[in-house]
Amino acid sequence: MLQMPDDRENGQMPAAVINRADYVAPAYWIDTVDLCFDLDPAKTRVLNRMKLRRNPDVPAQPLKLDGEELNLARVLVNGQGTSFRMEGSRLVLDNLPDDFELEIFTTTCPAKNTKLMGLYVSNDSFFTQCEAEGFRRITYFLDRPDVMASYSVTLRADKALYPVLLSNGNLVEQGMLEDGTNGPRHFARWVDPHKKPSYLFALVAGQLVSREQRITSRAGKEHTLQVYVRPGDLDKTEHAMNSLMHSVAWDEARFGLPLDLERFMIVATSDFNMGAMENKGLNIFNTKYVLANQATATDTDYSNIESVVGHEYFHHWTGNRITCRDWFQLSLKEGLTVFRDQEFSQDLCGEASARAVKRIEDVRVLRTAQFPEDAGPMAHPVRPDSYIEISNFYTVTIYEKGAEVVRMMQTLVGRKGFASGMTLYFERHDGSAVTCDDFAQAIADANPGSDLSRLLPQFKRWYSQAGTPRVHAQGVYDAAARTYTLTLAQSCAPTAGQPVKEPFVIPVGLGLLGADGADLPLQLAHEAAAAGTSRTVVLTQASETLTFVNVDAEPVPSILRGFTAPVVLEFDYTDAQLLHLLAHDSDPFNRWEAGQRLAVRRAIKSIAAVAYPVDAAPLDDAYVAAMRSVLHHPGLDAAFKELVLTLPSEIYLAEQLDVVDPQRIHAVREAMRQQLAVALAGDWQQVYETNQDTGAYIPDPASSGRRALAGMALSQLCLAAMTTGDTVWPGKTLQRFKDAGNMTDRFNALSALVSSGHPLAAQALTKFHAMFKDEALVIDKWFGLQASAPDRGGNILPAVRQLMKHPDFSLRNPNRARSVISTYCQANPAAFHRTDAAGYVFWSDRVMELDAINPQVAARLARALDRWSKLAEPYRSAAREAIARVAAKTDLSKDTLEVVTRALAD
Ligand code: BES
Ligand code: ZN
Repeated sequence: MLQMPDDRENGQMPAAVINRADYVAPAYWIDTVDLCFDLDPAKTRVLNRMKLRRNPDVPAQPLKLDGEELNLARVLVNGQGTSFRMEGSRLVLDNLPDDFELEIFTTTCPAKNTKLMGLYVSNDSFFTQCEAEGFRRITYFLDRPDVMASYSVTLRADKALYPVLLSNGNLVEQGMLEDGTNGPRHFARWVDPHKKPSYLFALVAGQLVSREQRITSRAGKEHTLQVYVRPGDLDKTEHAMNSLMHSVAWDEARFGLPLDLERFMIVATSDFNMGAMENKGLNIFNTKYVLANQATATDTDYSNIESVVGHEYFHHWTGNRITCRDWFQLSLKEGLTVFRDQEFSQDLCGEASARAVKRIEDVRVLRTAQFPEDAGPMAHPVRPDSYIEISNFYTVTIYEKGAEVVRMMQTLVGRKGFASGMTLYFERHDGSAVTCDDFAQAIADANPGSDLSRLLPQFKRWYSQAGTPRVHAQGVYDAAARTYTLTLAQSCAPTAGQPVKEPFVIPVGLGLLGADGADLPLQLAHEAAAAGTSRTVVLTQASETLTFVNVDAEPVPSILRGFTAPVVLEFDYTDAQLLHLLAHDSDPFNRWEAGQRLAVRRAIKSIAAVAYPVDAAPLDDAYVAAMRSVLHHPGLDAAFKELVLTLPSEIYLAEQLDVVDPQRIHAVREAMRQQLAVALAGDWQQVYETNQDTGAYIPDPASSGRRALAGMALSQLCLAAMTTGDTVWPGKTLQRFKDAGNMTDRFNALSALVSSGHPLAAQALTKFHAMFKDEALVIDKWFGLQASAPDRGGNILPAVRQLMKHPDFSLRNPNRARSVISTYCQANPAAFHRTDAAGYVFWSDRVMELDAINPQVAARLARALDRWSKLAEPYRSAAREAIARVAAKTDLSKDTLEVVTRALAD
């Protein structure tokens, strides 16, 4: 178990490890909370009146309320002054009656709240962020998700500065107060009819305007939907509102879950630690996931907005009505809700090919972010056993792997069976705080005959065992017996604290391709007749053998179709087999995967070769020809082609290697890009010309796909120009940049110039900044593009230092800090991992600097060196030294301390 140095947290308290096994129910229940806020940036007064009662199920004990950075002015029990004591930052009350009223009066300073947890100020408006443990920064409370209370909230503020006053639930009263020193003051009173945990509390106050939409549900109930933004941003709210309406309709249609709130609000803020937050009836969003019009947002932004709006809305049922018993159960709401938002986006796609594209994109995130996490110092099970700072556990494992675990349940019980399981889950648990076990049990119980129900205890190892399983497959064809035998063996490497892993339940979609590329009918040895051409086998043993009969010639197996489980599949394919799959597989996921395997193989060969500098032509004719035929294939759509032609990322390649030299990986991948650019130059021209849209801008999958492929073509044409000396395409690209009718085309043209290192990039960047100087989200793109540009002779770090001196740069705004610093440290490996260690020194300086401002943002950045132990020298020692430098700093937040301590233990 991780040992933390003492006397760390805020310089006083030891940073304690919280263990899942230590869960005990709260000693008191809080039934009602009445909050009154006098909002003032410098000193906000908070009067909190609660009704509490002792929990008879646990031994009598003092009441210990969580609190953080609060100024306590008064505590009354049943209206009387009372004695109390402090235990660290907790407020402790002894000798309480069984039922009582507790009144606590505190003040806070929102203007100085740079952590953006609790109540803070952004652009002169007030916002809150309470998940996971921010409510304790607003008032003393039992700040844990299993304490669910009814809230009423009064907000009082200057009317001119804060005309809009919002909180959860329904607005029951509003009016004027006596004038304050700055002029008229007003109030609003909100009552939330539903009980909720404190992490779902929210308030917003400021100068905001809203887009409003009334809808009638299937049951005939009226609802008001609102999207609040700063004045001037209303023309960027249509897409968010449409996404919200689609979300409401989808949850009702797919899962029978209606909107049951009279009023559902989304508010955008430009200072936000995360993407968005599902506060009851009052979702608060990072502007990045709300604001869009065709001039400022790309197709990717549009689709992100759709899924984030969906995600937070879907939490209304999966997270809010049924919540988590404790934070170890976080994936109960996050994994399930990510699964739901993925399904939502797929269902909105319509076309099967667009659904497949979405699936490939989701798997790409899982494999480039979650697989490395599961193999590194922060590896943890989907339901962790311990943590020091819960904010560090909002991870890709909880989210994306958690979503895959839910997806496997759906695969095991079928789509209809899964929907019945959800219905049973709500019948059993609506209104309560439950565990991952409760969820899995409900899905299994609703499907008594299913593999899930039969294998439930073993299936739940997905919740308890960390690490990515590997499935090693081998095929043997017996021509005489006309059989094809597939042996599938699973294993999982040890992770910290889990030296031995038990076998998982692994659903594996598979099919066999014949010589003509068609799927073969599948018949196993014990079956009377062939049935279907694709099926899902469920692995439960360390090794299993499947014998297919009546197979006339050696087939090419297509294994793990649709990526049915979050595992690494190993199969010793020949190039010919992969080319066959790439040309013919009826499963689009595996078709794409075959192309990726071909590219990975070629990259690894060049990376491992002794030649220095790297081979200028890592690709062979067969690969180039295969890519050419994909580009011209009449039956494949543009979005899919773009995915196939995108080489595996440097991060993904690094994960395939035992020892990582980021410079060499970059050099090889760049050589591959360059080679494709030149070898396919004529093809790229044709692709560019044939993928132009002239009509109105619509961010649907088909036209987004065409824009993505045309953008890739431009980027390849500019790259080719750098060696051929061509001036036509860079010129056309600059023209396209100037004339573009939407941000996607404009930004793709700009990126093509920047990423090829063309001299025209400088003037385009200057123009872009001038055009969008008042659009913060576009300026974030401008910073990010420069921080992510391919490194040429170490030029990026000085450029990044220069960007930090730009008048538009700010370390306090998380979006801006991330656009420069996180992009450089986490999305530009060859620029970051420098042989002179300057990238690491920069990283450690920024982590320490940010830690004093915003520990959550700092701790995320701190993870940039998670995989240091895989690095080749001289990177490895230098990286370790940089981590140790951060860990040695006094007064480090427990957020950052946990990350760097775990990294050093790796
Ligand atoms: N509940 C989270 C927001 C959150 C995360 C609050 C971490 C506190 C700490 C929200 O539902 C969420 O998951 N947001 C994601 C986006 C989502 C689409 C995956 C985010 O903010 O990144
Ligand atoms: Zn979420």
